[in-house]
Amino acid sequence: MKKLIVANWKLNPESAKAAESLARLEDRSGVVICPPTIYLAPLKKVLKRAKLGAQDAFWIEEGPYTGAVSPSQLVDLGVKYVIIGHSERRYLLQESDEVINQKVETALKAGLQVILCIGEDLESHEKGSDQTRLFIVDQLGRALKNVKSKYFKNIVIAYEPVWAISTSNSGLEDAPDESKKIISLIKTFLKKRYLMHNPRVMYGGSVNAENFDEYLADDLIDGVLVGSASLNPREFNKIQT
Ligand code: 13P
Repeated sequence: MKKLIVANWKLNPESAKAAESLARLEDRSGVVICPPTIYLAPLKKVLKRAKLGAQDAFWIEEGPYTGAVSPSQLVDLGVKYVIIGHSERRYLLQESDEVINQKVETALKAGLQVILCIGEDLESHEKGSDQTRLFIVDQLGRALKNVKSKYFKNIVIAYEPVWAISTSNSGLEDAPDESKKIISLIKTFLKKRYLMHNPRVMYGGSVNAENFDEYLADDLIDGVLVGSASLNPREFNKIQT
């Protein structure tokens, strides 16, 4: 299966016009563009080759839920992917494992491809690899609880160590070798515990034009989830499989 390059624009850019020009410049096959929800509809008209992804979706399909957007509404718009469980939502919006689990199930039922983010925090990272392994396996088990095996082919895991996101601000270095060990562990866990035949795991965390090949050149890694570098089309377009 072709490796995925996913652009997570987060809360950027500042206007629909800017989003449309950014999308035109990043519109290539193999790419998934995840803009803020409000830009999904205009970008659907712009993108010819890249697929559209949402940064989140609600865990219930309809009802009195002010401000929510349902997975089926996204599907209706032509959205193919949804990011669920991003650490910025887990920590800033206190999204629990239970909520994430329900979001995963609802999105899969609606027909979306789920990009499920997991990753250890700095505290677990600093405690060493055993703690990191425990953290990851626990988080994964909670997110996938009761998810039916018929949906597994529509899930891709994004391993994003929380401490490795936007490291230009924190001074922490990315650590491809460490990440590869964890990705290998995730794949083994998914094969053993869920009997997944060919689990897909991407990497995210300060991926840019300089370091992407350390990840994408490795057969183990099925794609990259790119934050800040996806806001600069010249840089983002250098990230190729
Ligand atoms: P950065 O690439 O800015 O570190 O963000 C990673 C990320 O959170 C992608 O979802």
